[in-house]
Amino acid sequence: SQVADLDASKLTVTLAKTLKPIPPHETLTFGNTMSDHMLIAEFDPESGWSSPEIKPYAPLNVYATSSCIQYGTTAFEGMKAYLGPDGEPRLFRPDMNMARLTRSVDRMALPPFNTDQVLALIKQLILVDRRWIPLASEYSLYVRPTVIGTGTGFSVAASDHATLCIMLSPTGPTSAPASKPISALAVSETVRAWPGGTGGHKVALNYSPGFLPLRVAQKQGYEQIIWLLGDDMKLTEAGAMNLFVAVARDDGGIDLLTPPLDGTILPGVTRDSVLTLANAHTARETTLPGLEETLHLHTHERPFTMTDLLRWSADGKLLEVFGVGTAVIIASIGKIGFKGEDIILPTHEGGLGPIAKAFRTRILDIQEGREQWKNWSIL
Ligand code: COI
Repeated sequence: SQVADLDASKLTVTLAKTLKPIPPHETLTFGNTMSDHMLIAEFDPESGWSSPEIKPYAPLNVYATSSCIQYGTTAFEGMKAYLGPDGEPRLFRPDMNMARLTRSVDRMALPPFNTDQVLALIKQLILVDRRWIPLASEYSLYVRPTVIGTGTGFSVAASDHATLCIMLSPTGPTSAPASKPISALAVSETVRAWPGGTGGHKVALNYSPGFLPLRVAQKQGYEQIIWLLGDDMKLTEAGAMNLFVAVARDDGGIDLLTPPLDGTILPGVTRDSVLTLANAHTARETTLPGLEETLHLHTHERPFTMTDLLRWSADGKLLEVFGVGTAVIIASIGKIGFKGEDIILPTHEGGLGPIAKAFRTRILDIQEGREQWKNWSIL
């Protein structure tokens, strides 16, 4: 029998009786402030997806025996809404988040839904809480669509019930000042993802196993982790960010490398945006700010190892290493700890290297609506 799909036209809105004061944007830290409302829809196997509801942000009513609590059946997304110069809210490439959400939900064997409807609901929620979109540049409203398995019991099988919830959180550019490069410890004792695993999906269970290694790295004085994989110690990701390395070529161009999407790497929206902009720069379809003299950025989606990194560093060819992600946009990495020694990257005034800075500036210009590019910023 046919069960109902998610239907944004059935949305009901229950507004909060009292609205919270909005904290000054300088005091915001990533993910720690929620807006007034959230969106909820529930799936049960008899009737399908319920009418979605926007209601005051509040705890969920779920059993402790829920699949998401017992077995971690949680998939989520992260995206940002910015206010453009015209005062209109914009989302950055939301189609990519929706496509990835579909894949993550499928990987967790959770019930599917039409993501056009999710996107319509996200827009409705943002309009209800639009006063929460910070006005300051580099500040935005972080959107966290989440799908959890709410089937109860300890049966080790797919959850037949689910809840979609969407939360909004005003946030700054990054938790650390973008003007300062971060340090990262390269670790191989624990791995983030492995061939055949879930590393290529945005599921909660990819993140929590990294918390303890991160704490250990922080005790050693590093801010983040670079996750290595395999006997050859391939670099995969940095913390929860995709990783890029810029290497000088003998012909005056620059090789821009990032690991391939082989299932161990999250297909990041910022990752794809950096690759697309780099290729457009080389094809003269755009000019990245500050890189007018660098005509060729050769992008490579291919594996590279600690041996490669140490050689590039010893040869003086290692220009920049940076992490990219929705939350951080671009974070330069200035120091990489490995086997008791540190690889030190060249330092730059203002913190970011010229390549990281070029991408950060251009992506923010598009996200904040100062510049149009391929319809990437829309609501
Ligand atoms: C990002 O959005 O950049 C991330 O790395 C995801 C994380 C906040 C869970």
